[in-house]
Amino acid sequence: MQQRGVTVWFTGLSGAGKTTIRMAVEKELRDRGLAVEVLDGDIVRQHLTKGLGFSKEDRDENIRRIGFVAHLLSRNGVIVLVSAISPYRDVRNEMRDRIGDFVEVYVNAPLSVCEERDVKGLYKKARAGEIKQFTGIDDPYEAPLNPEVECRTDQETLEESAAKVLNFLKQQGYLT
Ligand code: PPS
Ligand code: MG
Repeated sequence: MQQRGVTVWFTGLSGAGKTTIRMAVEKELRDRGLAVEVLDGDIVRQHLTKGLGFSKEDRDENIRRIGFVAHLLSRNGVIVLVSAISPYRDVRNEMRDRIGDFVEVYVNAPLSVCEERDVKGLYKKARAGEIKQFTGIDDPYEAPLNPEVECRTDQETLEESAAKVLNFLKQQGYLT
């Protein structure tokens, strides 16, 4: 029987842990020999959505292109892991409706924690006004109201967060 495809969509602030949890989930799925593809905002923006910025229009376009590819893949049996801030609730919901097999994972850490981590030094630059329209600083993030999975990365370990996602996929019959 062909594997059931699904799009697992990690949303959250910069530095919340989207990429990190996605990588842990990805490893587990690949170790099982499953067909997995990744669409990470940071990488996709160098190719598929190159040239787009961070206005609402550009972010929405970024998300819609990512969603388009995710749909093509997941309807053909691939487990697609999307990690993108995807700050706007309406566009995430549009992706949910379009893709169907869709699992929203809210990677949640308070802004203060993300800013404290400042892995890429972007918050510092945003506070200094060197980067405009930075999510959480001078640009909105609309938290999911009803995510399938929520990972509190300031309160749980990476292993716990990844296990939450994998267990949900099991529960829903996407994994055995
Ligand atoms: S979005 O909103 O979904 O289109 O964003 P995404 O494609 O995930 O890209 C976010 C990464 O771009 C870097 N970056 C910014 N993030 C937010 N706001 C602004 N203005 C910005 N400028 C650059 C940042 O590295 C984000 O990566 P993550 O992995 O989220 O930290
Ligand atoms: Mg990232």
